[in-house]
Amino acid sequence: MTARPDSPFLAACRSLPHDVTPVWFMRQAGRSLPEYREIRGEGSINDAIADADLATEITLQPIRRYGVDAAILYSDIVTPVHAIGFGMDVVPGVGPVVESPFRSSDDLGRLRPLDAEADTPYVLETIDNLVAELDIPLIGFAGAPFTVASYLIEGRPSRTYQNTKAMMKTHPELWFALMDRLADLAIASLESQVAHGAEAIQLFDSWAGALSASDYQRYAMPSSAKVLDAIGQTGVPRIHFGVGTGELLGLMAEAGADVVGVDWRIPIDEARTRVPADRALQGNLDPAILGAPWEVVAAEVDAVLESNAGHPGYIFNLGHGVTPDVDPLMLERVVERVHAYRS
Ligand code: CP3
Repeated sequence: MTARPDSPFLAACRSLPHDVTPVWFMRQAGRSLPEYREIRGEGSINDAIADADLATEITLQPIRRYGVDAAILYSDIVTPVHAIGFGMDVVPGVGPVVESPFRSSDDLGRLRPLDAEADTPYVLETIDNLVAELDIPLIGFAGAPFTVASYLIEGRPSRTYQNTKAMMKTHPELWFALMDRLADLAIASLESQVAHGAEAIQLFDSWAGALSASDYQRYAMPSSAKVLDAIGQTGVPRIHFGVGTGELLGLMAEAGADVVGVDWRIPIDEARTRVPADRALQGNLDPAILGAPWEVVAAEVDAVLESNAGHPGYIFNLGHGVTPDVDPLMLERVVERVHAYRS
């Protein structure tokens, strides 16, 4: 459990009282920072993640700049599948791309269990470095089985998830076998991150919003619940996030989340009616508004904070990740404003 009673972020995860509204940003490390572009180098992000000193520095860059209340490990949701040799790369400007997509039960053989210490030593070394440096909590993370499966099956980012939906409904046994392997990968990865000092975890089911509530409940939720359940045993708070998940928030809470991530499509007060009263919420400034003049952004920040109405179980964030064109100065001012806010 937490050795940091002074962390507003950890207090908020547990809906415990604290003074200042905590804030961090999904994709806070990344291309919007000039210092990131300077040291990131060309080529695959997998190479940057495999360099523990570089990954440590990249994780710390937004902490120095913004004064956020939590760090998020610089890694990717496809790092474990890449590490076990599934044959996946992350193409700049595109996203995760698979040479030979997952099609049949033969492909299950390409998904052996993850031995995190042996397969991803660089991730754990990065965490060791960070825990030694940071005076705020480090968030570890993994991709939820559905979202990772969508990349393995589609072979690249998709808007429709046609192949994924066809597989889940045509070959449910194969689908559930795949989901189970991906749940075990996420568990092994998250447990190793927590063992090395991550003080909270976030399960990214970024594309779960592509599913109806009943399909989510049947085809995606059980494997996410398996992951969240296993990590619940470690005692660290679990954040569960997806995009376009307004209709799924109750199920995502039920899957085993301490904190439910909310995108910008529904206000925080409305989201609160959709999850049990003991859960915290995280979100949900529209990242696309960050290109507007500061006065406009400030009013949007205030509207989000007012929608939370001073509830202790609340972490300010964007509704999705920082985009590459965002001016870092804007995020700096958002942090200042959130920290200065009193309900
Ligand atoms: O700052 C952070 O949030 C920590 C690091 C982080 C990255 N990816 C680094 C990254 C995290 C938490 C992720 C998770 C991730 N990766 C998700 C879930 C979060 C979300 O956005 O919904 C997803 C869907 C991925 C898959 C992925 N990786 C995509 C879609 C992309 C973008 C491709 C592109 O170039 O536009 C990546 C690459 C990636 N992962 C970058 C970063 C900083 C882009 C920059 C680079 O290649 O240097």
